[in-house]
Amino acid sequence: MKRRDLIKKIGLATGAAALSNVVVASPLNSEQKKKKVLKIAHITDVHIRPEYNAVARFKKCLEMIKKDKVDLILNGGDSIYAADYDNIKKERVVELWNCWKDSISLVNEISMYSVLGNHDMWWQGKGDELFGKPGVLKMLGLKNSYYSFDKNGWHFIMLDSNHPKTPGMLDEEQWNWFVQDVQASNGKPTLIMSHYPLLSCTGITDNKPDFIGPFKVSGSYNHLDIMKFIDVFNKNKNIKVCLSGHIHLLDKVWYNDVSYLCNGAASGFWWEPGDDGKSSYKQTVPGYSLLNLYSDGSFDDEYVKYEA
Ligand SMILES: [Fe+2]
Repeated sequence: MKRRDLIKKIGLATGAAALSNVVVASPLNSEQKKKKVLKIAHITDVHIRPEYNAVARFKKCLEMIKKDKVDLILNGGDSIYAADYDNIKKERVVELWNCWKDSISLVNEISMYSVLGNHDMWWQGKGDELFGKPGVLKMLGLKNSYYSFDKNGWHFIMLDSNHPKTPGMLDEEQWNWFVQDVQASNGKPTLIMSHYPLLSCTGITDNKPDFIGPFKVSGSYNHLDIMKFIDVFNKNKNIKVCLSGHIHLLDKVWYNDVSYLCNGAASGFWWEPGDDGKSSYKQTVPGYSLLNLYSDGSFDDEYVKYEA
């Protein structure tokens, strides 16, 4: 080897070492700051029912979630097909909840946190133990329709969007609790889950012709009190991500440093053939979301299609 080549090689090696020091040092530092602390599955709008082989199909979804080795499952509501219609008898409500219990027994060992969907409540059985919200709380093993908890450095707020008069907003009592809970979260990175989206573009893409004007959006597509939420989020920068369902469409809105993920539906087109013969609703296939949460308040997510 010529001397000049040797110097070149040494120079290159030194340079590479120096460079690798710089390159290696930087990701290590950021790795230390950004540690993955939780893996979550978000399922929503399962609408479980005996028809369309739904139970076996949902079990396939849960088997995949099990293999994903998640720390917890967040269930975004509309767990059962529908108890809210006028013609629903108790036998049907019991049948639907039995389908639910049978399915989720597969993931008994994983903690599950649920919120109430608009189709979960049975309004016909006044006086019955399955009537209304108390009936759903009983079936889901919940004490209250809204609550919060901490896990691995993150704070979780579970909301009840089912306002008795104006769906898609919190009543005064829940709102006051929410504001207090955010203040008490002590700056922990926070995830919020609701059934109806707090903020979503699906009110436009799923618009119905009976609305007055092309972009009139109801509270079930976009919370009516979203401006109040935005104000709270602006004062509390630890709110990172808001999960929702209800629309059965997949969308992501990012606004003022907060991500709003409307995460499709496990049932797609309510398990029926839907728009492509494979239970898609418009462009959204049946699926669930996986989220990795990090210690620095960041997250990543993916929507998983679980059927062929
Ligand atoms: Fe739904």
